[in-house]
Amino acid sequence: MLNTSLQALILAAGKSTRFNTTATKLTFSLCGQELIAFPLQLLKSLNVHTTVIVGYQKELLIPVIQKYMPSAQWVEQPHQKGTGHAVLCTQDTWHADNILVLNGDVPLLHKEDLEKLIQKHISTGAAVSCIATYNADPSVTGYGRIIIQEEKTCIVEQRDFTGDPAEHCRFNAGIYLFKRAFLERFLPQLEAHSTHGELYITDLIQKASDEHERIEFIDIPFDRVRGVNTLRELWVAEHLKKSELITSFLENGVRFTAPQSVSIDSDVSIGADTVIGYGVQLRKGTTVGTNVFIDAFCTIENAHLANDVTIKSHSVISSSTVHRGCTVGPFAHIHSRTTLDEKSVIGNFVEVTKSSIGKQTKAKHLAYLGNAQIGSEVTIGAGTVTCNYNGVSKHVTTIENNAFIGTHASLIAPVIIGEGSIVAAGSVITQSVPAYALAIARERQINKEQYAVALKNRYLASKNPLPEASL
Ligand code: UD1
Ligand code: CA
Repeated sequence: MLNTSLQALILAAGKSTRFNTTATKLTFSLCGQELIAFPLQLLKSLNVHTTVIVGYQKELLIPVIQKYMPSAQWVEQPHQKGTGHAVLCTQDTWHADNILVLNGDVPLLHKEDLEKLIQKHISTGAAVSCIATYNADPSVTGYGRIIIQEEKTCIVEQRDFTGDPAEHCRFNAGIYLFKRAFLERFLPQLEAHSTHGELYITDLIQKASDEHERIEFIDIPFDRVRGVNTLRELWVAEHLKKSELITSFLENGVRFTAPQSVSIDSDVSIGADTVIGYGVQLRKGTTVGTNVFIDAFCTIENAHLANDVTIKSHSVISSSTVHRGCTVGPFAHIHSRTTLDEKSVIGNFVEVTKSSIGKQTKAKHLAYLGNAQIGSEVTIGAGTVTCNYNGVSKHVTTIENNAFIGTHASLIAPVIIGEGSIVAAGSVITQSVPAYALAIARERQINKEQYAVALKNRYLASKNPLPEASL
């Protein structure tokens, strides 16, 4: 149910100056998802009406917002005049009694953290509640510090802070919950900050303090509220997110031969008793069943691996489905809506694209199967190629159940290889093969007795052997 006493604003208009890149940082990927996706997903899970403040590169950001939260509204901040000004731009959208404001660049926050903030805010009746974090490391920079002295509370930004960092090591996380009435009254009163001419949302804390309005803080571990202002901080945040994902998989019976070497996107699921080998990449849209073995250096993207599947090393699988008990690889490439039915085997140096492979069918070595509809218990010999493309359009090769395709056959599509038929090794098949027939499509062999000796002698005599083509 939509939480009507609450609405949320995500600040996402900033210029990402400290990234030193051309694109806004909020479209950069962290474990397979754009940075902006993280606050959007949290708010979606809380069912809160959300408005995103966009500005810098809004044309890149808006499609991403729509992808993750189609119901989100967006409001433009035409000039980036600070976090306080960003919130001011949304004034016309305020409708709920409480307004949650999130920086767009805090991707490690948990849903429980926001729930805790909401609970404290509502139960205390505070005018403003904020998430804070302690960090005594003097090398950590870029955060506003919460200063509480002589019953006065304020947030002092890094650039304005002149005190002792060890004494003031409580940071502002950039996540605030305001009573709408408080915002309506005090936000328009913010003054441009002398240093940069910006309006700081953080100055509202001092306002609340001056006006004797109630301020509440909840403290969350630093690693959950890290902001991402630089590429280095993005790398650190991704590392932490990955550790979080791997920890949760380890707790649920998934084993990793070298967890530090694995790359996993945040939407990947993996079943118990599965083993993930060294350097494996599991990219977005992937689901892995139970008791699966994925050996070293495999890349799996947007693919579904059912239970009891074995993927041998250096295999690449994308946008495909591998059913129970299949074996793939090493060095196999399965892609573009391919389906491998139960217990089929795709071996080394086999590429399969836009194809369906039936139950217990085997293509164990060096084959190309494209636009192929292959039945069950078919054997595909080494070097078999479906010639699916004539330079203009693609055509289908159909191979029915129990057919046997000998080594190095070329199957020129469109063609149907009938049930139980045999295609002789080395054949170039241009016409369909009836069920249970033997198709041989190759030159007959001629053996010339003793000809090898005569030929060699002739070469030696001339010392100028003829090119092979003229024999
Ligand atoms: C901000 C806080 C700081 C806090 C830190 C936590 C202020 C003044 N400072 O600093 O106290 O410790 O977050 O991570 O708020 N944005 C806009 N419009 C603008 C400027 C920024 O929408 O004009 C957006 C940015 O896209 C970003 C968010 O606001 O998502 C925060 O801005 P950023 O510049 O990263 O603030 P910090 O310097 O990190
Ligand atoms: Ca920031």
